[in-house]
Amino acid sequence: MNIVMINGSPKVKENNSQYFLSEVEKLIQKDNDILTFKIDNVSKYPKAIEAILTCDRLIIAFPLYVDGIPSHLIRFLEECEECAKKLNKKSITVYAIVNCGFYEGKQTHLAIQMIENWCKRVNFTWVQGIGIGGGEMLGSLQSTPLGKGPKKSLGTSLGELSKNILSNNIDSNTSSKDNIFISPNFPRFLFKSMSNYHWTPQGKSNGLTKSDILRK
Ligand SMILES: Cc1cc2nc3c(=O)[nH]c(=O)nc-3n(C[C@H](O)[C@H](O)[C@H](O)COP(=O)(O)O)c2cc1C
Repeated sequence: MNIVMINGSPKVKENNSQYFLSEVEKLIQKDNDILTFKIDNVSKYPKAIEAILTCDRLIIAFPLYVDGIPSHLIRFLEECEECAKKLNKKSITVYAIVNCGFYEGKQTHLAIQMIENWCKRVNFTWVQGIGIGGGEMLGSLQSTPLGKGPKKSLGTSLGELSKNILSNNIDSNTSSKDNIFISPNFPRFLFKSMSNYHWTPQGKSNGLTKSDILRK
């Protein structure tokens, strides 16, 4: 199968979306051709769109931005939609991996729904989305094996997604699976206090006091 992965993080260097994609890639790479595109510049759109229009599976990973899709990714999806409609492409199946900063993966449900709606507009087959809470934390624990410790649920959910990506049982009317939302296997109160601990020195290095950060 030809599989295309789209990395929708606008970060220039390390990003969590790439980490989640690389874990899925390890699980699905056998006997498949996988191409990954980071579409952080319009000059990269044509090659990525060309690959999408000839692929069997499309996996879109991105960070949650203000409960939605980062704007550059929306622009890319609109361009892709135009090209796909011109060619009347129908058989591509689509999956999404959305990670967010908050603890609860459920925060991503609207963004996942937006990708599902885009599939309807473009006549692609929507299958499943994974919403990952604590994305910064899970993305930074790269030496912890998938499926262990704080990454227990991450391992289970990416495993299930990969199984569905590899499944040949795709029928556009019945293919859709339940979305999966996960949080780190780590106490929420500790997650919150560690995040706050991290924000204060980062604010200080940018000339902000704690009360500046808390001001509404
Ligand atoms: C402009 C901006 C908006 C964000 N909005 C949200 C949000 O609404 N909810 C949330 O949980 N995290 C939000 N985040 C946090 C990112 O989703 C989080 O840091 C993510 O792990 C980044 O993933 P990446 O490394 O793949 O880019 C936001 C971050 C930025 C920079």
